[in-house]
Amino acid sequence: MRVTPSATVKVSNTAKAMMRQGIDVINLGIGEPDFTTPKMIADAAVQAIQSGKTSFYTPASGLPQLKEAIANRIKKDYGVVYPADQISVTSGAKMALFVLMQTLVDDGTEVLLPRPSWVSYKQQVSLAGGKPVLVETGADFKINTDTLDAAVSRNAKVLVINSPQNPTGTVYSKDELAVIGQWAVLHNITLIADDIYGKLVYNQNQFISLVQISDEIAASTVLVNGVSKAYSMTGWRIGYIAGAPELISRVNSILSHSTGNPATVSQYAAIAAFESDQSEVETMRQAFEERLNTIYPLVQQIPGFKLTAKPEGAFYLFPDVREAVKLAGVDSSGDLVDLLLDKAHVAVVDGDAFGMPGFLRISYAASLENLLTAVERMTKFMNQFVEKQVSGGIEIETD
Ligand SMILES: Cc1ncc(COP(=O)(O)O)c(C=O)c1O
Repeated sequence: MRVTPSATVKVSNTAKAMMRQGIDVINLGIGEPDFTTPKMIADAAVQAIQSGKTSFYTPASGLPQLKEAIANRIKKDYGVVYPADQISVTSGAKMALFVLMQTLVDDGTEVLLPRPSWVSYKQQVSLAGGKPVLVETGADFKINTDTLDAAVSRNAKVLVINSPQNPTGTVYSKDELAVIGQWAVLHNITLIADDIYGKLVYNQNQFISLVQISDEIAASTVLVNGVSKAYSMTGWRIGYIAGAPELISRVNSILSHSTGNPATVSQYAAIAAFESDQSEVETMRQAFEERLNTIYPLVQQIPGFKLTAKPEGAFYLFPDVREAVKLAGVDSSGDLVDLLLDKAHVAVVDGDAFGMPGFLRISYAASLENLLTAVERMTKFMNQFVEKQVSGGIEIETD
């Protein structure tokens, strides 16, 4: 089957190629914290290498000590207990989601995905032979039982909830998750809770996971998380799945025939991350919060960019740019993305990749200085069309 390459990776590659040619591009296209991995985590990896432990395979589903560290972290963060044999370690949360789709989806199985949602879910469902079905959201970018009822069919078996959400920064409340969770239980639908941004929530907003809502909802939920976003460890490739024992054993069989174990050195680093006092996570969270609070009002002022709700988590803004598309005289948000890269030297991602053309995803996982310059460039770029319109208007008036 045909799969399209990841739009976020593609835009970032183009931006990097331009940078290699000496063009000063600001890359707000990729979902990757700009901090280096905290030193104590890197030190643990170096120590593991020096002790010789990292030369060897581990069990395909991960080191027992790492599963223990994950179980303890889930217990501390969520108050929910998963024995180590209900945990499987994967090469990033992306692989966790991929292997879950391979496990849960048969030919024709429908998987409910909120619109917009992260670029890879849809492709992973298709790769597993399933059918992605988009569930509509309102101005708050949240699904509800009305939109779920409109999307569900007898073939629907899985619903993915990603809160805080990529690309919108939306965070679901406890009550909203309780209603969605109950709906899934009633329809015998497995929930996937993609909690990868769970530690990145701002301005007094609260994150709560589906697995914390009730025992019944937790029993219908498979939890996915990892180290990439919270610990600034995207390059290390460690994610995990926590779920029912039978599911985990099927997942482990697939892992044993595909990736095998995630890199051993990364597993030792992840143990240090999960066992740490989480103060480094808090420092990075505060930096993201400051960036959000600084650039949110500025992006709102870019001509033709409209931000409805202020994001509560993750590190993205998802403005409606349909007015900007008209102003710039182009056909689509994809054309606008190309223009912003070519002319303003700012890389962002077309909302189309997330199922929502007419929108753009701007990542604020970049330094404040770069963010301010990027916003200034985009504002200046869009202002020229406003000025043209105004001077055009004057011409008409004086004619
Ligand atoms: C919503 C969401 N889920 C999962 C992932 C995968 O994260 P990783 O494979 O780096 O752990 C990402 C990364 O961009 C994401 O945005």
